[in-house]
Amino acid sequence: MAKSELNASHFGQDFIWGVSTAAFQIEGASYSHGKGTSIWDTFTKKRNAIRNYDQADIACDFYHRYEEDIILMKSMNIKNFRFSISWTRILPTGTGTVNEKGISFYNNVISCCLKHGIEPWITLYHWDLPQALEDKGGWTNREILDWFTEFTTVCAKAFGSRVKYWMVLNEPMVFTGAGYFLGVHAPGKKRLRNFLPAVHHAVLCQAEGGRILRRLLPHAKIGTTFSCSQITAYKNNKRDIKAAKKADALLNRLFIEPTLGLGYPINDVPVLKRLKAFIKPGDMERCTFNFDFIGLQNYTREKITHSFFVPYLKAKIVKASKRNVNTTLMDWEVYPPSIYHMVEKFSAYSQINKIIITENGAAFKDEIKNGEVDDQHRLNFLQEYIAQVYKAKQEGLNVHGYFVWTLTDNFEWAEGYHARFGLIHIDFKTLKRTLKASGKWFARFLKE
Ligand code: FCB
Repeated sequence: MAKSELNASHFGQDFIWGVSTAAFQIEGASYSHGKGTSIWDTFTKKRNAIRNYDQADIACDFYHRYEEDIILMKSMNIKNFRFSISWTRILPTGTGTVNEKGISFYNNVISCCLKHGIEPWITLYHWDLPQALEDKGGWTNREILDWFTEFTTVCAKAFGSRVKYWMVLNEPMVFTGAGYFLGVHAPGKKRLRNFLPAVHHAVLCQAEGGRILRRLLPHAKIGTTFSCSQITAYKNNKRDIKAAKKADALLNRLFIEPTLGLGYPINDVPVLKRLKAFIKPGDMERCTFNFDFIGLQNYTREKITHSFFVPYLKAKIVKASKRNVNTTLMDWEVYPPSIYHMVEKFSAYSQINKIIITENGAAFKDEIKNGEVDDQHRLNFLQEYIAQVYKAKQEGLNVHGYFVWTLTDNFEWAEGYHARFGLIHIDFKTLKRTLKASGKWFARFLKE
């Protein structure tokens, strides 16, 4: 079937369609109604951390405009909405006193979704750790297990009676790698001595979060989400092939395998042996949890080459801009088969119950002309990636849903506002929302 003829009905009644967002990227109201400071509030204030020194204090102002956005979602036939909970809106200093205004806000969002026939999907942690906890070491401090337990428990009790779908973490590889090794995301830490404990504690919290939700909400469907990219050798020689294997272990396997009881991929990435220093007796058992679903988030593929200069890994990514390929504004290669290969790869783990694509999308330089945004690049991107998901489903692979990243243009972390990912355009001066051509297409695709 031609990709343009495909519509949601071809995937069957039970296939889940939705859009994904994250609190820090859309809410704004950073200092209102008792919200505490998160590591991203702090990080965005640093010099040279964010492109153009863009700030997220207002962002999309979803905090005040959630109803407008949910009504837009409804008009687009979107039935599932994934959003995250800002930890510091609920517990301003990470633990202790609960901010009732924060609880009310999310209860209002949930009520509004339900009123408009939209299913809320909650991500507990989408990167905005309370600054007060970072001051005690954040993810590098094993006490995060207690802090995260408290946060999860408060959320489960406050929202669990009306929210069925939960995800514990968003992309632990990205928040530990970019935040605690490369220093390009909050909290801006570097070095292996920060990265390794952050990894192990995130893996523990991931499973612990799952256990808490299952105990408190026995009917909930519980998942967690992973970034993943198809990884291949840049050149077909021994050194690049070996480098690609290491990069694959680090980027695609590091967080899922301990969760499934397979341990850390130390054979392929020997430096991970140093995780031992942080592993206590019984931990590897505690790292496991039988999630109802695994969320995969795929945007691109990576080509890897051997590099003598990269410490520990001896491997590096060859940027898309150096490979003469089609790219998005993020310099991510447009490569639709990547999403198929990721579904295939994760379907091969017999311990995974279900796979849902919890993010996929593209950033381009969208412009309003005569009141319209004609984003054909994004429309094609979505059609082609969705066609690959269809192929996977046709072949009987274990994929059960797909969420577009994202509803509206928003604050794209270190890239600020210049990377627009939305189905809906936002003018960040007036906050006016304009449905893009891709949004209109998605609405038609879902209607069929
Ligand atoms: C993912 C993040 C999400 C968004 C997209 C573009 O890595 O989970 O918040 O920034 O990338």
